Amino acid sequence: MNDLDSLVQQAQADFAVAADPTALDAAKARFLGKSGAITQQLKSLGQRSPDERRTVGARINAAKSDIESLLEARREALRDEALAAQLSAEALDVTLPGRGAGKGGLHPVSRTLERIEALFRSIGFEVADGPEIESDFFNFTALNTPENHPARSMHDTFYLEGDDAVLLRTHTSPVQVRTMRAHVAAFGDRAHMPEIRVIIPGRVYRVDSDATHSPMFHQVEGLWVGENISFADLKGVIADFLRKFFETDDLQVRFRPSFFPFTEPSAEIDVGFMHGEMKGRWLEIAGCGMVHPNVLRHGGIDPERYTGFAFGMGPDRLTMLRYGINDLRLFFEGDLRFLSQFR
Ligand code: DAH
Repeated sequence: MNDLDSLVQQAQADFAVAADPTALDAAKARFLGKSGAITQQLKSLGQRSPDERRTVGARINAAKSDIESLLEARREALRDEALAAQLSAEALDVTLPGRGAGKGGLHPVSRTLERIEALFRSIGFEVADGPEIESDFFNFTALNTPENHPARSMHDTFYLEGDDAVLLRTHTSPVQVRTMRAHVAAFGDRAHMPEIRVIIPGRVYRVDSDATHSPMFHQVEGLWVGENISFADLKGVIADFLRKFFETDDLQVRFRPSFFPFTEPSAEIDVGFMHGEMKGRWLEIAGCGMVHPNVLRHGGIDPERYTGFAFGMGPDRLTMLRYGINDLRLFFEGDLRFLSQFR
């Protein structure tokens, strides 16, 4: 039956131009739907004789199943096309060179702080910290610093507006007293109080700014309090630390008499290099001394039974020496040309 053959051909042509599943469904309805061409043909069978019904019916069914196969084939082709389009839209060029992870690095002063912490930890020190916004009491009074001391003046210290009992700490020394108090609170009732062995790295603030002074800089405080701690222990700890820090035995350490209200006796620590560029120069790197009895008392510790030494060093200065940097301000400007040299 020519009619059926051309219906199949027509369906094939219609399916081929259907560009998406919706168009294909519409084309399908024209042939296989309730009032589609094939359905019409099947309905008309009722008017035929039983003999004809069998032969014609078989041909219609064959045409129907041809159309169904064509439909399924076209469906599959459309699915493949859609997938191919999606794959090429989302294509990833794995041969493109990467942009790099943009890895940062530690700031040179942070490197120094980590190094100092590791060296002191290795001889049994803990690392503590305290607030940068500090009370006048802990920053000065508890450290035996008299009312009229120049460090307390507005020229030297940043006071918080409206409250001259609160300031930006000018040194890490107030954390000495805070540490002692916390230690006494935890262990003070023991017959033998464990020793305090602590370093306190942190930021400190002063009204000061030039090539070697920044209004914000770093200090590392050290404190060792126990029953028989002497100046000899201080000298040993500092000399040993400096040789390890600079990775050389080729340096000398000098303790120069000085004055701090919170230590007695007090000294300034200078380091001298015996070779190289720095040969023959003494560089001041810390203040130190035996903790003043009044400071121990403010910390809740009996100065008749316990003694201790303390020091406060400048890690910024140590960093400059270690890396040969000549301007302190470079540390705080955030210039990547400088900082990226330390990655
Ligand atoms: N706090 C002093 C300063 O900022 C440094 C210092 C000196 C700390 C002697 C100490 C010390 O612990 O014993 O200048």
